[in-house]
Amino acid sequence: MTPDARREVLADILDGEEQDSDAFPAEKGGTPGIPDGSEMRTVDPTAAPAEEMDEARLRPHTLAEFVGQGQLTEHLQIVIEAARKRGQPVDHLLFAGPPGLGKTSLSGIVAAEMGVGLRITAGPVLVRAGDLAALLTDLQEGDVLFIDEIHRLPRAVEEVLYPAMEDFKLDILIGKGPTARSIRLDLPRFTLVGATTRTGLVTGPLRDRFGFVGRLDLYDVEELRSIVLRSARILGVPVDPDGARKIAERSRGTPRIANRLLRRVRDFVEVRAAGEITAESATAGLELFGVDELGLDKVDRAILDVLCRRFAGRPVGLTTLAQCIGEEVSTIEDVYEPYLLQQGLLQRTARGRMAAPRAWAHLGMTPVDPTLL
Ligand SMILES: Nc1ncnc2c1ncn2[C@@H]1O[C@H](COP(=O)(O)OP(=O)(O)O)[C@@H](O)[C@H]1O
Ligand SMILES: [Mg+2]
Repeated sequence: MTPDARREVLADILDGEEQDSDAFPAEKGGTPGIPDGSEMRTVDPTAAPAEEMDEARLRPHTLAEFVGQGQLTEHLQIVIEAARKRGQPVDHLLFAGPPGLGKTSLSGIVAAEMGVGLRITAGPVLVRAGDLAALLTDLQEGDVLFIDEIHRLPRAVEEVLYPAMEDFKLDILIGKGPTARSIRLDLPRFTLVGATTRTGLVTGPLRDRFGFVGRLDLYDVEELRSIVLRSARILGVPVDPDGARKIAERSRGTPRIANRLLRRVRDFVEVRAAGEITAESATAGLELFGVDELGLDKVDRAILDVLCRRFAGRPVGLTTLAQCIGEEVSTIEDVYEPYLLQQGLLQRTARGRMAAPRAWAHLGMTPVDPTLL
């Protein structure tokens, strides 16, 4: 069946059922849950809408341009190569990891490497089964469908995905009650690429239908330095190797933050320094924006302060910690904790979160022995 024919069948079926014209809500503006930029943290790993244009320019387009994640990209290379040889679409892929590490970029790379189209949507915007059905019927053979935040798909929508992923079939229920019957439509063979910041929240049945699950880890300083140098080249910003290193060191292992710090420091040197980003001007700029030498900002330091000072080194439950900081539990878990853990500043214990020795040192405090309290 051609996409046009499929669309017509679907339109007939959905006709009369309550449906608005918002069949492709993903194409209309921003992603819910992402701040509008007014209260943007310098080290927030999510993208502000104003940054999205720049991001498109800086996004790597091929696997070769994609810095780091060596094992993951090697596996992907093989999966893509094999699919190309067989003349088939790539297996469904799930990318998991904290925000800003390259999940969206990888979905684009898969489509580009396969020479197929890319459709982008996100879990929270696919409200009804019909929203997803409309997207699926509109795909061309081989296309990549990218669903960001796939752990936030409503249950009813997720169930449409199962037969679509497994058999490339769309099951549609017509009518209600005892007269309801279900029909099956053929879909083109496509590749679903899902992204999630929370693998734990992806249901078992959904996870099982992916042929490949790739975890993205925080980047090391050397990788981030190459990313900063690459972005500086694209943006035409003069930066010396030490300047790039200073920015890399404070980017919390996250390419998106590295790119943002680069832009902030560029602004700073244009106004205050001679124009080139050096170790010295980068450090001065980063200090000005409140990013310390470990890449921690106010909120991170507040977390460490709660653990060391307020609770004097005792374990603190996640909910309590979130309340003390005035942040959502999920924000603490997704945004702050991965980096604090990676840096050896925070420990997760069975009884709660605790400051690690390095946290005390970073705050310039002597550790209190909690057993003495
Ligand atoms: N491996 C990488 N190499 C170079 N740049 C990267 C890499 N990963 C991410 N980036 C940069 O970081 C930005 C955010 O990446 P993105 O793919 O949107 O992350 P995510 O979808 O995981 O939040 C991109 O615009 C890109 O410029
Ligand atoms: Mg993304």
